[in-house]
Amino acid sequence: MSRFKNKRVLVTGGTRGIGRAAALAFSSAGARVVVAGSTAQSTAAAVAEFDDASITGVAGDIGNVNDCRRLVQNAIDELQGLDILVNSAGVFQPASIEETDEDLWDRIMNINVRGSYFCSRAAVETLRQNRGCIVHLGSESGVNGYGGSTAYCASKGAIVNLTRSMAMELAPEIRVNAVCPGVVDTDMARRGFAIDGVQEKGIQQQRDSYPLNRVATADEIAASILYLASDDSRFITGESLVIDGGATVGK
Ligand SMILES: NC(=O)c1ccc[n+]([C@@H]2O[C@H](COP(=O)([O-])OP(=O)(O)OC[C@H]3O[C@@H](n4cnc5c(N)ncnc54)[C@H](O)[C@@H]3O)[C@@H](O)[C@H]2O)c1
Repeated sequence: MSRFKNKRVLVTGGTRGIGRAAALAFSSAGARVVVAGSTAQSTAAAVAEFDDASITGVAGDIGNVNDCRRLVQNAIDELQGLDILVNSAGVFQPASIEETDEDLWDRIMNINVRGSYFCSRAAVETLRQNRGCIVHLGSESGVNGYGGSTAYCASKGAIVNLTRSMAMELAPEIRVNAVCPGVVDTDMARRGFAIDGVQEKGIQQQRDSYPLNRVATADEIAASILYLASDDSRFITGESLVIDGGATVGK
């Protein structure tokens, strides 16, 4: 309950999926949390659903640098400081190289890479003062790469190297790590892997290729995020932790 007592946490993309699970887990462990969602309406709805006095919200488009600065500053003001930043906001849109035009490329890169970078940059001064940490959401696909979602894989590959480079530059005051999940059963994966529009079919197909016969839950990824944000991982920085139920072991 008190593992994160008095810790102040900002989770971008905290209104849904992995970010939402992380926000709940941090709050249950004693932290005060601000979740950042993409619109005022969706953020207010998520905060109302949390029904938890220790979770509040800010809204902004992570693909827009001014919004990144503003929402990080709003969270710092609200929490009177910041100890932990989790960059979970992201988009996944399977598309072949022929289908990936400039607009789609820019959208994926702006939200997944530029957003994570500029939210982190806006938080650096405060995190330095508090000897805080950053946890990025990479992806197993950013380590191994897949056809059919090249831009997404490139964006998550960038997160892996952003994690290493930021860790080197921000040490010793700020630790920077990433979690790199395989498929996680969230709206993102259900929409992205749907077969003929049927989400369950897509999840089933993914599940069949996993040694543990299932994909991850958002709570399981949240548990690793909390580990990387906790004192238990105090000698870990620059790491990208692949969490894929053994799907890529030995490949
Ligand atoms: N679900 C998976 O299988 C999986 C696997 C590996 C990595 N990831 C990564 O984990 C992170 C979270 O994924 P998820 O499954 O929870 O997805 P999700 O779609 O359930 O949630 C994504 C969150 O990002 C926010 N977001 C998206 N675009 C935004 C924008 N322009 N501005 C502000 N917020 C925006 C959404 O509001 C939402 O809260 C992402 O970075 C994703 O790439 C997911």
